[in-house]
Amino acid sequence: MYKCALILAAGQGKRIKSDLPKVLHKVCGKEMVNHVIDTLRKSKIEDINVIVGKGAELVKSNTSSRNVSYSLQEEQLGTGHAVKCAMEFLKDKSGTVAVFNGDAPLIKEDTIVKLFKIHEENNNSATILTSILDDASGYGRIIRSGDEVLKIVEHKDCNEEELKVKEINSGIYCFEIEKLVECLGNLSTNNSQGEYYLTDVIEMLKDKAERVGALVIDHEETLGVNSRLQLSEVEAILRKRINNKHLDNGITIIDPMTTYIGADVEIGQDTIIYPGNVLEGNTKIGKGCTLFPNSRINNSIIGKNVEIQSSVILDSSVGNNTTVGPFAYIRPESVVGDNVRIGDFVEIKKSTIGNNTKVSHLTYVGDSEVGESCNFGCGTVTVNYDGTNKHKTVIGNNSFIGCNTNLISPVTIEDNSYIAAGSTITNDVHSGELAVARAKQRNIEGWVDKRGLIKKK
Ligand code: UD1
Ligand code: CA
Repeated sequence: MYKCALILAAGQGKRIKSDLPKVLHKVCGKEMVNHVIDTLRKSKIEDINVIVGKGAELVKSNTSSRNVSYSLQEEQLGTGHAVKCAMEFLKDKSGTVAVFNGDAPLIKEDTIVKLFKIHEENNNSATILTSILDDASGYGRIIRSGDEVLKIVEHKDCNEEELKVKEINSGIYCFEIEKLVECLGNLSTNNSQGEYYLTDVIEMLKDKAERVGALVIDHEETLGVNSRLQLSEVEAILRKRINNKHLDNGITIIDPMTTYIGADVEIGQDTIIYPGNVLEGNTKIGKGCTLFPNSRINNSIIGKNVEIQSSVILDSSVGNNTTVGPFAYIRPESVVGDNVRIGDFVEIKKSTIGNNTKVSHLTYVGDSEVGESCNFGCGTVTVNYDGTNKHKTVIGNNSFIGCNTNLISPVTIEDNSYIAAGSTITNDVHSGELAVARAKQRNIEGWVDKRGLIKKK
């Protein structure tokens, strides 16, 4: 049976008070609408149409990598109108379409699979995902007669009896495409909000003696975000879910309350994570690593048995058995090899660092290719910028860079060469050479006395 999904994402979301469309606000580092898309894909729904309106171009550009199609709802005249705007997508299709809200990112893969299953097994024309709430205010109520679902009544349209109903509409449904399309044409705005309600389709189907079912699930999964407070609440729920998944996979998280792991981060078994770590984007951490406190790692690949402490690593990779930090900064497009040491107050920018190389303290390496088994003395600087252009520094294998060296790029230091401490290197150094580029020391005897600078008592 053909399956597809619509995601309603046209509203601005006034209560979130933002220039950014609501569905682009991030939860655990990923836009809410993209959470919904990714979960749908995990439940094997390939054909997804996102209904955009407010901030349409931004919503499109932020979802474009996910290969979805779009419908435009220029004016937000209600959820029924939004689905009508997807008519081009729906027409001539037959099968099941599920409807989701772009601002409810906690829905789980298993639930989606179950919703489709129940819908198809029961030959329903519509199946509603519902929850039971103590305080149902604001939500559409599920009105039943015995077990049978009759209709959904919006909070603002409820009579006294209906207001007492605790079963609410999550805003997630499955519909028979042809049946849905038939009803959409007959929606009216004859209600307290003057909107086209998608929920009215349920009563229309019942009037045609169609089968309507409901699947009751825990409310947490259907929580929607209308305000920044709800955004933070949803974030806390998802963060806990993500951390629990990693704990389950054999990762030690010493304090899950203060560990922030993005939705798409992967972590190998036996890695230990201390408090204050923030792991973002498509980061992958290998097995057996120790992340000591307070690092931020974004979109980076970390090998096995790596130790990192109080450092920032962005869009880079770090090899096996390497140690980073404390207080190191690895900037985008850097490739750090195996068994390397990147020590305190070291900045690596767009550079390759070969295996077994040590850059232990107070050093800047930018736009450089560094070979294997090199040693950088404390305070080395690659001088990669001449005020106009950036230039490259190339350092071969087994080179020794003395403390406080400036490497004025473009410059090449060949394999097996040495640079004396305090040198400012402007010319290439060839294999086997020692380069000394500093003024010879002079000691001027009696100089202090002659100047009358000796302090008396
Ligand atoms: C809707 C349901 C209600 C349900 C609740 C669950 C209707 C009429 N009511 O109410 O039964 O309990 O969700 O959260 O459907 N949107 C558009 N275009 C529009 C209007 C809305 O794209 O013209 C989008 C919004 O951006 C949002 C979603 O649809 O993502 C839901 O809209 P919202 O206005 O929040 O619906 P509710 O009033 O909460
Ligand atoms: Ca809502």
